[in-house]
Amino acid sequence: MIVTTKKLFEAAYGKFAIGAYNINNIEQTMGLFQGNLMSQSPFIVQISKGARSYTDKRMLEAMIRAADEIFPESIFAVHLDHGDEQTCYDCIESGFYSSVMIDASHEDFETNIAITKRVVEAAHAKGIVVEAELGQLGGVEEDIKVAEADAKLTDPEQAKEFVERTGCDSLAAAIGTSHGAFKFSGTQGLHFDVLAEIQKLLPGYPLVMHGSSSVPQEEVERINAAGGKLAGAKGVDADQFLPAAKLGVTKINIDTDGRLVWTRVHREFFRDKPEGFDLRAPGKIFMAEYAKFIADKNVKLGSDNKLDEIRAMLAQG
Ligand code: G3H
Ligand code: 13P
Ligand code: ZN
Repeated sequence: MIVTTKKLFEAAYGKFAIGAYNINNIEQTMGLFQGNLMSQSPFIVQISKGARSYTDKRMLEAMIRAADEIFPESIFAVHLDHGDEQTCYDCIESGFYSSVMIDASHEDFETNIAITKRVVEAAHAKGIVVEAELGQLGGVEEDIKVAEADAKLTDPEQAKEFVERTGCDSLAAAIGTSHGAFKFSGTQGLHFDVLAEIQKLLPGYPLVMHGSSSVPQEEVERINAAGGKLAGAKGVDADQFLPAAKLGVTKINIDTDGRLVWTRVHREFFRDKPEGFDLRAPGKIFMAEYAKFIADKNVKLGSDNKLDEIRAMLAQG
């Protein structure tokens, strides 16, 4: 069942976080839905601009619709990840997305507010919720690269003003994480002080943590042992998820870790079976491994065994 993130965030606030996972293909979609049912977790399916143009955006939407039929007990939101203004309107018009992210964080404060406000008005008119971003994460998104030195932590006073003036439903705050597999080079770490300050100024307001892959060292070692070259890859300690949730983080974005599972499975498969060429053989292993990865991640997020509670909450309206 597709829902907005509103009810999910209400249930989660201060206690646990909802996993937001990016998908690009059938194998990820199947593994994602299976994994969330294994752990009995509500979740958010994220579609990035890059994913929408990887093949055709209608293909992704059709896969999610099909997964909704195949796994009818699933409760999830369909979310545009890091949208620009035009892509947000496209998703709002499509009638399929329950949530969009407008990411104008690279603009100056006033321009970010103006763009976000326009998207919020268009989305709310259709019952769709909006995530916005203030501050700048380091790392690489599809067509934007932010050097670590240029990343800017969110200013809590500005966050309050931004939320009040735009009416956005959740806010991605930059607290020191970055996108991709190479986080925290140098002396960077997570800034929970910033989260605590934002929570004080915006009590009860849902925050989002991007760039939250853990980049497990065991995964990196296996990839490198099978021919990969990911020296120095590093991520966010998953034991930080629950402390972050207590400070108002209700959505935690994870994409890179899933890509690492894919890379490890396929590198090891073809290393061990150089004569292999059937794409379904590693695909089947990946779906099972990805499902397990999602279920384990949800335990770290504290979103396991929450489906009954969410279903009861949704039934009450
Ligand atoms: O934040 C970016 C997400 O990991 C999506 O990545 O734009 O390459 O699809 P992508
Ligand atoms: P990671 O690169 O850490 O997985 O972050 C994903 C993300 O923030 C998607 O919006
Ligand atoms: Zn992100």
